[in-house]
Amino acid sequence: MTQYQTVTGTETQLRDGTIKLHGPEAFEAMRKAGRLAAETLDALVPLVQPGVSTAALDDFVREFTLDNGAMPATMGYRGYAHSCCISINQVVCHGIPSERTLKDGDIVNIDVTPLLDGWHGDSSRMYLVGDVPLKARRLVDVTWECLMIGIEQAKPGRHLGDIGAAIQAHAEKHRYGVVREFCGHGLGRLFHDAPEVVHAARAGTGPLLKPGMFFTIEPMINLGKPGVKMLEDGWTAVTRDRSLSAQFEHSIGITEDGCEIFTASPKGLDKPPY
Ligand code: MF3
Ligand code: CO
Ligand code: CO
Repeated sequence: MTQYQTVTGTETQLRDGTIKLHGPEAFEAMRKAGRLAAETLDALVPLVQPGVSTAALDDFVREFTLDNGAMPATMGYRGYAHSCCISINQVVCHGIPSERTLKDGDIVNIDVTPLLDGWHGDSSRMYLVGDVPLKARRLVDVTWECLMIGIEQAKPGRHLGDIGAAIQAHAEKHRYGVVREFCGHGLGRLFHDAPEVVHAARAGTGPLLKPGMFFTIEPMINLGKPGVKMLEDGWTAVTRDRSLSAQFEHSIGITEDGCEIFTASPKGLDKPPY
């Protein structure tokens, strides 16, 4: 049984499995946190070039976030020590910034999560490094379409499973694999909260969507099979078959008649080519 809880945003919130329903002040706070996430991803566009190290990009994300009065929510999160996740090529998600440099032809996901005035913005985009082969660019395009097709289902009266069903149908039409091990999530005061937003599901299943729900949609789509493998570092997830993987993430809020995308780019730089 799904439990919903109406919150003001001023109370202490717990990860108690309830789905929080937020009011206008919380929407305003999420608009600010989401906008900062989008501005961070916008500011990264000129920096994502062959030769740059992912550690340098991480330093930029930290400085930009702090300069804007926020904290990267990933710093110190479950022992994670960095300001963002940077996932290159066959890395599905949670790539750890390092001295590794980007090279021509890489496809890269950067995932940022500013914590601003106690509210979380969570968004990621793909970046193309130099000349990227058509096959990889197609994967990136279809992954973006998967996110937007999922968002189209995000409105009152739909079930959460309608989002995953739409994403899965679109990805599999292109013979891509939808990653099952990682999901979207409720967020707001909390970074990772109920509900779990799966990206492969049956239509009509899962909780009903109601105004005031905040959650992410963040499909990870593989050029090959859907399976993933964890690396020894305990964070980095790679495709089991070592095929390329892409991901886009938005944070959204359900409104009376649809949804609001908190992390839309103010510059229209939501997807490559930038
Ligand atoms: N930003 C990721 C998400 O979309 C979470 C990263 S947690 C970390 O949910 F610890 F790996 F950074
Ligand atoms: Co997320
Ligand atoms: Co994220």
